[in-house]
Amino acid sequence: MLRGGKELWFAFLTCVLITGAYGVVVFLTKTIPAASDLFGHTIGIIGFILMLLTETLYSLRKRSKSASWGRMSTWLQFHIFMGLVGPYMVLLHTSWKFNGLAGATTLLTFIIVFSGFIGRYIYTRIPRTMDGLEIEGTLSQEALKRARQLMSLWHTVHIPIGVALFISAFIHMGAALYYATFLK
Ligand code: HEM
Ligand code: HEM
Repeated sequence: MLRGGKELWFAFLTCVLITGAYGVVVFLTKTIPAASDLFGHTIGIIGFILMLLTETLYSLRKRSKSASWGRMSTWLQFHIFMGLVGPYMVLLHTSWKFNGLAGATTLLTFIIVFSGFIGRYIYTRIPRTMDGLEIEGTLSQEALKRARQLMSLWHTVHIPIGVALFISAFIHMGAALYYATFLK
């Protein structure tokens, strides 16, 4: 279940390993990897793919009427794991420059991760089965109603931010590939 925070620990350890690899590259090249270099480009692409999977897989599984593979709680754990590791890789891809649209895309990425933590907090306040279904009766009806309202309010903020983030990321990729890669 989400309450143990196992996925947060796995994400943290993975980020430590990635930081180690980043440190080795900085040590060997004696420079911060540029976003368009082999290393910077690769972590940007892998990180972005993880973010894209974060955005789509959990929603697809949640909305699929026929799918029964994997518990919803496990899917949400994957969602959170990829939703942390992907943005972290993208952060290392930026070469610590945040100009223009690419900078705005990074800001949106920060906001969605921060918002994810708030959603995770509210989500874990509602008692659920392993498959994510709410359990009635273990919490006072008033508190349960409030938590549900907060969760639905949270969805109406979190989802549009995700959409804006991916639109701006695709424009950034198109522009960056055109100007910084193909025109060189
Ligand atoms: C959400 C995902 C992404 C974010 C937030 C992001 C953010 C950034 C940032 C902040 C920069 C530095 C801009 C500057 O110089 O001020 C950058 C550069 C760059 N990004 Fe991304 N990026 C993402 C995904 C990608 C992907 C998937 C690709 C490749 C397909 C890519 C290709 C590039 C390239 C080629 C540059 C270098 C541009 C240049 O040298 O002027 N980015 N990105
Ligand atoms: C790239 C980063 C992320 C993206 C693009 C993203 C996107 C989304 C989307 C689109 C949903 C709606 C799913 C649905 O109801 O169909 C969602 C739900 C959720 N996300 Fe994220 N998310 C990201 C990162 C995170 C992180 C880092 C956390 C936690 C720390 C998190 C926690 C949650 C929770 C708790 C839900 C609600 C699950 C539910 O109501 O069934 N997300 N996310």
